[in-house]
Amino acid sequence: MALGGMFRNAAATYLHLVGSLQRKKAGASLTRYLHQTLTMRKRLQARRLDRIDHNPWVVFTKLASECDAVNLGQGFPDFPPPDFAVEAFQQAISGDFMLNQYTRAFGYPPLTKILASFFGKLLGQEIDPFENVLVTVGAYGALFTAFQALVDEGDEVIIIEPSFDCYEPMTLMAGGRPVFVSLKLTPTKDRELDSSSDWQLDPTELASKFTSRTKALILNTPNNPLGKVFSKAELELVASLCQQHDVVCISDEVYQWLVYDGCQHISIASLPGMWERTLTIGSAGKTFSVTGWKVGWVLGPNSLMKHLRTVHQNSIFHCPTQSQAAVAQSFQREQLHFGQPSSYFVQFPQAVQRKRDHMIRSLQSVGLRPVISQGSYFLITDISDFKRRMPDLPGAVDEPYDSRFVKWMIKNKGLVAIPVSVFYSQSHQKHFDHYIRFCFVKDESTLQAMDKKLQEWKDELGA
Ligand SMILES: Cc1ncc(COP(=O)(O)O)c(C=O)c1O
Repeated sequence: MALGGMFRNAAATYLHLVGSLQRKKAGASLTRYLHQTLTMRKRLQARRLDRIDHNPWVVFTKLASECDAVNLGQGFPDFPPPDFAVEAFQQAISGDFMLNQYTRAFGYPPLTKILASFFGKLLGQEIDPFENVLVTVGAYGALFTAFQALVDEGDEVIIIEPSFDCYEPMTLMAGGRPVFVSLKLTPTKDRELDSSSDWQLDPTELASKFTSRTKALILNTPNNPLGKVFSKAELELVASLCQQHDVVCISDEVYQWLVYDGCQHISIASLPGMWERTLTIGSAGKTFSVTGWKVGWVLGPNSLMKHLRTVHQNSIFHCPTQSQAAVAQSFQREQLHFGQPSSYFVQFPQAVQRKRDHMIRSLQSVGLRPVISQGSYFLITDISDFKRRMPDLPGAVDEPYDSRFVKWMIKNKGLVAIPVSVFYSQSHQKHFDHYIRFCFVKDESTLQAMDKKLQEWKDELGA
C-alpha cells in the first residue's frame, strides 16, 4: 500500500512536471528535453562518491513493487503512531503560528531541554540543552554530521559487522578508512534456535583493529540487522579499548526502547569515563513510530559537539520546527509516564515482541531458521538448508547467494526480505551470504498476509 502510494505520487509529480514543461517549452521536443544528458569533458562525479554510488535497497524495493509481494524488507511500522504523538503534531501545525518559521539552528529549545532532562537521568549526566544536544534530520543526519565533523583524510573507523549499511559510505565520504570486525556466532546447543546474543565480539580480534590512526568506533545497540543488544561486559570491553587508544565512540542507539525478553539496553556513554568521548545518537522516528518526521539528535560533550555544530550550520542549518515541537511534546508526555504500564516505552516493545514471536513461529513452518532477536525492528534467518538444496538460483556470477535467494523469494513466494550480505563489507560478504533479514514491526494484517504466503509455500513443499 505504502509503496503503491509512493509510485502513484511519483507518477503524479512526473505528470505535473511534464505539464508545466510543455507550457514553458512550447515547440521544443519534450521527450528530448526530458531525456537530455549532460555531456561534459570534465569529470562530473566528486571523488568522494567513488565506490559508494550503488545502493542495494533500490533493487529490492523496485522488485517488491513489481511483484506485489508482502513487504517485510524496509524498517518502518505500517500502522499508526500513538494517538498522543499524532495529537502533538496536529497541535504543532494548528497552534502557535511561529512554529511555521525557523527556530534555533541547533534545535528547538523545548526539544533540546526535554532531551537534556530525559537523557540526563538515563545517562547519569548533567546535560546542557544548548551545548550537549544537537537536533538533526533523523538519526541519518546525526550520523552524517558526526562523520563529517570528526573523521579526517586517512583516519580509521572501526565498524562492527553486520552493520547498518550507511556507516561504510559515510566513513568513505569523509575521507576515512573503514576497518571491519565481524561478530562471531557461537551457537548454543541446548536451544532449538540461535539467539542474537550468540553473536559476539572476539576481544583479541577487536583489540587488534585499534591502531594509532583509529579515530572512531561506531557501535549500534540494539543492532540492525541482527537485533543484538550488547551486554554490559561487551560495552566495557569497547569502552576500555576506546579509552586506551584515545578513540571516539559514535553510538547509534535508535532502537533503544525496542528490547525484548527482559533484555536491558545500556548506553555506552553511561559507563565510567565514556561520556567525554561518546556521541549518543537517537531517532524520534524509531522512538515514536514516526519515521517520516525525520527528527534525530546527538548527545555528547561540548568538546565534540562544537564540531558537529560547525557542520550543521554549514549544511542543514535548521530542522523542521513543527516536527521538533511534536517530538518535544511526545517526550514530555513520556516523561510523566516513564516506567509505568501506561508508558509507550513500556507498551510498545511488549506489542512488538508479540509480532516478533508471531514471525518466528511462521518462518519456521517452511524450514527457515530465525535467529531470535533481542531488540530492534529486525531478525535474521538462516537459509543454509536452501543453499544446500537449491544452490543454483539465477543471478550474476559474483552475486551473493542471499541476494539471489531474496530475488527468487520475492518472485516465487511473494515475500520481501533483505539479504544480510548488504550489511557486510565486500571482502566479508561471501562468509555471510546465508542469512536474510525480515522486519517484524508490521501491522497484524501484514503479518496475516505473510502467514498466507508461507502457508502456500508450505503446501507446495508438502505437494
Ligand atoms: C541503525 C539505524 N541507525 C539510524 C537509522 C536512521 O534513522 P532515521 O530514520 O531517524 O534517520 C536507522 C534507520 O533505519 C537505523 O536502522
